[in-house]
Amino acid sequence: MPRPIRATIDLSSLRNNLAVARAHAASAKCWCVVKANAYGHGLHNAATAWRDLADGFALLDLDEAVQLRESGIRQPILLLEGAFEAADLLRMAEFDLTPVIHHVEQVAMIVNAGLPGRMPVYLKANTGMNRLGLSSGEWHAALATLRACPQVGPITLMTHFADADGERGIDWQMARFDALCAGSGLPRSLANSAALLRFPAANADWVRPGIMLYGGSPFPARRSAAQLGLRPAMTLRSQIISVQRLDPGDSVGYGCIFTAQQPMRIGVVACGYADGYPRHAPSGTPVNVAGRMTGTLGRVSMDMIAVDLETVPEAGVGAPVVLWGEGCPADDVATAAGTVSYELFCALAPRVPVEVIG
Ligand SMILES: Cc1ncc(COP(=O)(O)O)c(C=O)c1O
Repeated sequence: MPRPIRATIDLSSLRNNLAVARAHAASAKCWCVVKANAYGHGLHNAATAWRDLADGFALLDLDEAVQLRESGIRQPILLLEGAFEAADLLRMAEFDLTPVIHHVEQVAMIVNAGLPGRMPVYLKANTGMNRLGLSSGEWHAALATLRACPQVGPITLMTHFADADGERGIDWQMARFDALCAGSGLPRSLANSAALLRFPAANADWVRPGIMLYGGSPFPARRSAAQLGLRPAMTLRSQIISVQRLDPGDSVGYGCIFTAQQPMRIGVVACGYADGYPRHAPSGTPVNVAGRMTGTLGRVSMDMIAVDLETVPEAGVGAPVVLWGEGCPADDVATAAGTVSYELFCALAPRVPVEVIG
C-alpha cells in the first residue's frame, strides 16, 4: 500500500467558484488566473473544469500557454509577464496568445518583432504596486506607439492592486488609473479576487480572479470562504499511522518544542513538509481527525506531524485526517501558520498523489 497521503482536486468546486466570481463580475468578462500550475491544482485540471466556462485564461509561462492552446482551449490566453525576449512574441503570434506589455523595452520589442499579423495586447500601468507596469511618465508615449503600430491589434489597459484585501483599499490606485485611461476609450482590466468581491466599481471590462476560484478567501479575517459561497477545490488527506501515549513532561518530535502537561494520547499523521505542509505551522494548527477538529503538536517534520487525539478518543491507526480542504479550511491552517492559502496550495509537493473528482 502506498503512503496514505493524497490530494483531491474537485472540479465541481472549481466550477462553483467560477460561478461565484461571475455573479460578482456582472457584465465583466472573466480571466481565470491559472499561473503557478493553477495555484497548485494542476493546469490540466483547471482547464478541464473551466474549458467551456472561462472567458480567458491568464498565466505566466509561455510553454504552459502553448500547452493550454494545444489542449484545445479556444479562449484568449493572457501572458501576465509578457515576452522576455523578442522570439517569445513570434511564438505568441503562432499560438494566438495575448501578451501584457509592462515596460518600455517590451513596447520596442513588439514594434520590432516582425509579427505576421495584428496581436492583441494588454498595456499595464504601475499605479502603486511598484512591481510591473509603466510609470505615468512613460504611459502616453507607449500607448501612442502601440496604437500607431500596424502589428498591434486590440489594446486593453490594465493595472494590479496592491491592497485590495487590506485597509488601504483601491481608491488611490483607481484614481491614478482613471487619469491614465481618460479619453482612451479602451477596455480595462483591474480586479483580482479581493477587488472583485469588495469593490464592484473596479469590475471594468475584464476581471482577473485567482485565489477565490480555488476556494480561498482573499481576506479570511473579514469573510471566510464559506461565507463567500466558495468551496475548497483542493483537499489534502492522510491517515494516522501511529498512536503514542505521553506522560506529563514527555515531548513530541524534533526540538522537543511541545511538552505534555498531563497524560495524553497523540496521533502521528503521514504528512510533513516534504508533502507541502508548512514547517513553520505551530502547535495548535487546525487539523481534522475522523471528522473532528483538533490541533497539531510540536514541530512538523519531513514526513510526519503529530496531532492531539484527546478530543478524538475513537481515532486510532488508520483514522482519516484532513490537513486542509473539505472539513478543514485552508485559510484557517494558513492563518495559524502565518501564511496565506495561496502558499499552501502552491506548495503541494509533486510526491503527493492527486485524485481528480467532480
Ligand atoms: C496580474 C494579476 N492579476 C490577477 C491575479 C489574481 O490575484 P488573486 O489570486 O489575489 O485573485 C494575480 C495574482 O497574483 C496577478 O498577478
